[in-house]
Formats: sequence, C-alpha cells, structure tokens
Amino acid sequence: MYRQYKANEMAGKLKIGVVISSTREGRIGERITTFVKNAILKDHEVVVFDPLEEDLPLTQQSLNFMYNPSSVPQNIKDLNDRFKALDALVFVCAEYNWSLPPALTNLMDNIPPTTVAWKPCGFVTYSMGRLGGSRAAVQLRVFTGGMGMMAVPTGTSIPLAHQALDESGKPKDDTLSKELDVTLKQVYWAAKALKSYAGNNPAPNWAPS
Ligand SMILES: Cc1cc2nc3c(=O)[nH]c(=O)nc-3n(C[C@H](O)[C@H](O)[C@H](O)COP(=O)(O)O)c2cc1C
Repeated sequence: MYRQYKANEMAGKLKIGVVISSTREGRIGERITTFVKNAILKDHEVVVFDPLEEDLPLTQQSLNFMYNPSSVPQNIKDLNDRFKALDALVFVCAEYNWSLPPALTNLMDNIPPTTVAWKPCGFVTYSMGRLGGSRAAVQLRVFTGGMGMMAVPTGTSIPLAHQALDESGKPKDDTLSKELDVTLKQVYWAAKALKSYAGNNPAPNWAPS
C-alpha cells in the first residue's frame, strides 16, 4: 500500500522521536543517529532520546508501577511527557549479544507502555558485523510490540556500520539513504493515517473494563 505513497500527501509536520540505544564510549550509534536525524529533518521535527544524556539509573520503579504518584522524580515525568508528545518513533539500535542494548530497554522501562502505545515506529539497526543488527531488529519488534507500539514493515539495517558511514554520518554510497527513505516514508504514512483518525476517535481500552 505504501507504494501508492505520493510526495504531495506529505503535508503536515510530525514530531518524531529518535531513540538511541548505546552509551558506549566511541559508539558508532552517534553517526547513525546523525544520518537518521538529517534525513528526517528535511520533512519533520526531531526529538532525540539519548540514554547517555538522560542519565537514568537502572530502573528503580517504572512510572507505570509507582504506588505513590507524588514520588515520581521530575526527570521521569519530563521524559514521559516528551515521549507522549511524539507522533512516531525511530529506534537507532545496535545489536548486543544478538539482542537489545540494556541502555535502550532501561530507558524505555522508565515510562509506561500507555505513553507510547499505538504510536508507529521504525527501526534502524546496525552492527560492525555483516548482519547489520538483524537479530536486534527481531527483538525490537517484540519489545516495541510489548509496549503497544506499531512497527512499520521495512526496517533499515546497516552492516559494517563503522565503514558504511563516516564520522559525520554521511553514508559511503546512496543505497543506505534509499533504504532509510523507505523506512521513514512508512513511518510518516502510518503516523499520518493514525493521527487523522485518532484525533476524533479515542483508542480502545487495553483490557475489559
Ligand atoms: C556488549 C556487546 C555485544 C555485542 N554483540 C554483538 C552481536 O551479538 N552481534 C553483532 O553483530 N555485533 C555485536 N557487537 C558489536 C556491535 O555491533 C558494535 O560494537 C557496534 O558498534 C555497537 O554499537 P555502538 O558502537 O553504537 O555501541 C557487540 C558489541 C558489544 C559492546
């Protein structure tokens, strides 16, 4: 269906969260994030979520399970509000041990699924190996599904990520930009479709009332 996508259907600015997964010193994720940010900024607004900047401890209490709402730390409330304001998310995700970097799951575990539920999301995975974080992409589909997000069909995976882009986030050839463009257009399309309907129709309950 996204093949029918037309450029003139792009009107309307979206707020897109770009979520970084790695806090590693010298992380390759930095340049991948720049690449993704620059691609999105042509059309929409970007809000970056960087676990290094958020400086969260290992999850003590998820906002979802705080028994005393007045004890919620201000930085978690702010984090939650910033996620809530998004129309869609793009995860820039490394592969750690065939899975997700703990900094990413720790960041997300601080907010309740209801904050991001029904929001479309796209994946840009990468690794220094040849599989480009494909195994992390599988895990990410499960993880985001668990939080109620709706992942778009086509992810972008970046093999040999340390060679595929220079430090400024510029890809060595334009194949990668074309792949990212497919993922992003799917994210925009899903976010716009949802936004136009959800504005007048509240989301259904999570459980029987
Ligand atoms: C703890 C750890 C586990 C890793 N596990 C994998 C793996 O399972 N598969 C893979 O292809 N690369 C793996 N790598 C290599 C990463 O893909 C590579 O270091 C990548 O640059 C990590 O992203 P970052 O630089 O943004 O942290 C691992 C790296 C680390 C630090």
